[in-house]
Amino acid sequence: MAAKEVLQKVEKAVVKKVEKAVVKTISPQKNSSGRTSSGIPGFDELVEGGFPKNSSVLICGGPGTGKSIFSMQFLVNGATKFGEKGLYVTFEQTADALKGQGTQFGWDIDGLEKKGLIKIMAVPIENLTKNTIKEIQQIVEKEKISRIVIDSLSTLVINAPIYTTPSELSVEQVIGDNVVFSPPIIGDYIVKRFVYGFIEDLRKMNCTSLLISEASQNNEYISRDTLSEFVCDGVVVISFESMGGAYSRSLIVRKMRQTKNNEDVHPVEISKNGIIVHNIE
Ligand SMILES: Nc1ncnc2c1ncn2[C@@H]1O[C@H](COP(=O)(O)OP(=O)(O)OP(=O)(O)O)[C@@H](O)[C@H]1O
Ligand SMILES: [Mg+2]
Repeated sequence: MAAKEVLQKVEKAVVKKVEKAVVKTISPQKNSSGRTSSGIPGFDELVEGGFPKNSSVLICGGPGTGKSIFSMQFLVNGATKFGEKGLYVTFEQTADALKGQGTQFGWDIDGLEKKGLIKIMAVPIENLTKNTIKEIQQIVEKEKISRIVIDSLSTLVINAPIYTTPSELSVEQVIGDNVVFSPPIIGDYIVKRFVYGFIEDLRKMNCTSLLISEASQNNEYISRDTLSEFVCDGVVVISFESMGGAYSRSLIVRKMRQTKNNEDVHPVEISKNGIIVHNIE
């Protein structure tokens, strides 16, 4: 058999194996009761009072659209208005940069951290290890966290293929130190398997999670990884388009399981107190 055929055969076998693993991990939707209010003015009424409790929601948008501000506001409100503890996991910014951005909106993130109501876990991407997910799980259990933000899923996903081998695909192993060079098609399956596994792990933590994602450059898809919008329970898209009007940003609830969500586009304001979602005039 020619070397090319052998390679194709191996590739097919690996893809089949990974496909099987993907199907195996998708567990049925959890029965959650109640809502998790974001407390963001104008948002909760778009989703029947809040995100479905324990759901995973993708916050998707281009650069500078306000994804991180929206997500931090969700945690600050959880802590100050609803007595729910929050964990902000960032691969993008330092804890100080996040706190500094919060100060602009009057949020005392340092104070909330001292009271144990908010925890920031800043992980430089080069420090990602197979223990990172375990560390998140341990913090969630120990601190009794109810709200999680992952900033961003895109960064995590980009790193998935280079940290794994196709045969070792549980989430802890995906971001371990097994480096393998994989052809693009296998890399794609690894990414898909990773997204399923990661979101599944978050579901098991009994938290309401916001997963920040870069927007896709391709109109067919919402997220850059082209898959997380299908796996997540909800998708909120924030867009930026300066038209010379009062607001340059807008938001749409693209999907929210267990919810008769509002389907309109809403102008978004970044005010001195944080994000405000407006109604179309
Ligand atoms: N105090 C403020 N008042 C009004 N707008 C602000 C203020 N601070 C930041 N912004 C706007 O918010 C944007 C940053 O928001 P945020 O960090 O949430 O964006 P992001 O979507 O997370 O971006 P990225 O994808 O780069 O991480 C800035 O580019 C700026 O336009
Ligand atoms: Mg951001």
